Amino acid sequence: MPRTLPTARRTPDPERGFRLSDFARCLQCGAGLDGREACPGCARSYPETGGILRAMGPLEGRNRIAGAFYDGPGWARFRRWERLFLRVQGGEARARRQILRHLAAPPFSRVLEVGIGDGANLSLLPKDWTAFGVDIALKPLEECVERDPRMAGRLSLSEAEALPFADGTFDACWTLGGFNYFRDHEAALREMARVTRRGGTLIVADELPDLHRYGIGHLIGIKRLDALWLRALGLDREFVEMVLATDFDPDLVVRDVWPGVARFPIWGGLGYCFVHSDTRSDSDSDSRIDIPTRRNPA
Ligand SMILES: C[S@@+](CC[C@H](N)C(=O)[O-])C[C@H]1O[C@@H](n2cnc3c(N)ncnc32)[C@H](O)[C@@H]1O
Ligand SMILES: [Zn+2]
Repeated sequence: MPRTLPTARRTPDPERGFRLSDFARCLQCGAGLDGREACPGCARSYPETGGILRAMGPLEGRNRIAGAFYDGPGWARFRRWERLFLRVQGGEARARRQILRHLAAPPFSRVLEVGIGDGANLSLLPKDWTAFGVDIALKPLEECVERDPRMAGRLSLSEAEALPFADGTFDACWTLGGFNYFRDHEAALREMARVTRRGGTLIVADELPDLHRYGIGHLIGIKRLDALWLRALGLDREFVEMVLATDFDPDLVVRDVWPGVARFPIWGGLGYCFVHSDTRSDSDSDSRIDIPTRRNPA
């Protein structure tokens, strides 16, 4: 039988508001966890350690390769090149704001970053928003809590393709920097739209997936050379093979799943940023699920 936690656990912390586990729902049966570490419907376990909820099955396909990369030494090696890339775009904060400026959520919004990593975008968000995050790699999530201790209890080890939240939970949802190698792009876009209330902002941004095709190997017709320089930048062998094998057109996929989406070039044309606001409903507020917050206590 699932363990029932005392009611006190379900009372929001007066300083932090609700924890992610208070409103997360079971990936298997959809029951609300309501702060429990086991699903009240099917008993699936949802442990939380170090302020990070575990709501993910075994990783497959590209997510297995990406998860191992971001959790391992490859990302630590490659990170400096990513930082250099963003600095060349006029500074890291400025490069990130090219995307975050589209987050048109009202004051006291509840927002979700998918693939939050170590939370580098958090300091650029309005101070009255409550941000939550999911990622498939544990190490960056632990670094996120270290960087910003308020994120303890607001993070989940979860895939973009299977978000452990009810429909309309968030006022905005975005992903920045990992989308090209998500296992299932369509599923991730559908999930992001599902957990965001109608009228909420959705954003997906990343570098152009075929940037490596500007590599010397492609240019002179010896594609194997591209694997060498990508490895020299610090990427894992498996990750490099995945990069070279992925033939992905974000325009086709995003426009198909989020009709009417707007596309903005970012990072000097080397990246893309799709912004979508689902305006199917005239009354935007009626689709947001009612989770008590500091502003609107239970
Ligand atoms: C380049 S990092 C960007 C981190 C952060 N968004 C930022 O702007 O600094 C990409 C992140 O996406 C995560 N990620 C990759 N595929 C994912 C997926 N399918 N679902 C959730 N997170 C994913 C990775 O683990 C990694 O932490
Ligand atoms: Zn369940």
